[in-house]
Amino acid sequence: MTEAAAVPAVDLPGGVPMPMIGFGTWLIRGKGGREALRAALAAGYRHIDTATMYGNEADVGHVLASSGQARDEMFITTKLPSGKAGRERATLAASLRALGTDYVDLWLVHWPPADRMLIPVWREFLALRDEGRARAVGVSNYSLAQIDRLIEATGQPPAVNQISWSPGRYDAALLAGHRERGVAVEGYSPLKRTNLASPVLAKIAAAHDATASQVVLRWHLEHGMTVLVKSAQPERIAANIDVVSFSLSPDEVARIDVLSR
Ligand SMILES: NC(=O)c1ccc[n+]([C@@H]2O[C@H](COP(=O)([O-])OP(=O)(O)OC[C@H]3O[C@@H](n4cnc5c(N)ncnc54)[C@H](OP(=O)(O)O)[C@@H]3O)[C@@H](O)[C@H]2O)c1
Repeated sequence: MTEAAAVPAVDLPGGVPMPMIGFGTWLIRGKGGREALRAALAAGYRHIDTATMYGNEADVGHVLASSGQARDEMFITTKLPSGKAGRERATLAASLRALGTDYVDLWLVHWPPADRMLIPVWREFLALRDEGRARAVGVSNYSLAQIDRLIEATGQPPAVNQISWSPGRYDAALLAGHRERGVAVEGYSPLKRTNLASPVLAKIAAAHDATASQVVLRWHLEHGMTVLVKSAQPERIAANIDVVSFSLSPDEVARIDVLSR
């Protein structure tokens, strides 16, 4: 067992605290993937983002079981592939078996399914949440219009929308739209889609004795967003969660916001 990093958490409906930095596991598989997962636990990550589509739920389950980490100290997300719409119950059961757990903390619809399935899939998600198979349920890659349809049909907004986010994609109106609907935003691909050589990021990083990557990750937290970041390299895995010892001023945040223009 290792010590959790002092990462802030956002409260999802139902009083489920979600650590605001999650370890992304796209392309984290097999022996090297399990080593990266062990390095993530050692560095203090307690939020792991996987998906049925990533083909690594069993690797995550294996590492969690052998780590001795208490289940209730972990926050585990997995996702339903849109091709499995209509087979929610069986797909979640297979995920839980692979992960070696009775419940996930967050279950997401990975991509919007065919239009006619949008509401039926959401109803099934709510039912499985009510049965205790997922503590919270949400969506990924949904537009605000699609979220509104879920709310109109069921009165229940997704706890989370997981979307691509980075300085280049900053959109204040989209963030505000989620906030108005009570939907927490999780950003993915924060580094992959960022010019880490940007002079703006370099200057801000130098002022905090940090790297450009750390500044980008911290910028998400300043906006009250959760961020998912993947690395297979132990030094980067540790550095990417070491963003709680400094903060950005409102002026620095604004200078990063305008990189999207
Ligand atoms: N819901 C969805 O549709 C969706 C889509 C995409 C991603 N996601 C989730 O979000 C997670 C994160 O997104 P992502 O993996 O696409 O992108 P990301 O975390 O922004 O970028 C990962 C890439 O950045 C490199 N990297 C990591 N730390 C670095 C650092 N400190 N300095 C320089 N380079 C660094 C990694 O290389 P090394 O491994 O060599 O360090 C890797 O090539 C995914 O793993 C997945 O869990 C969800």
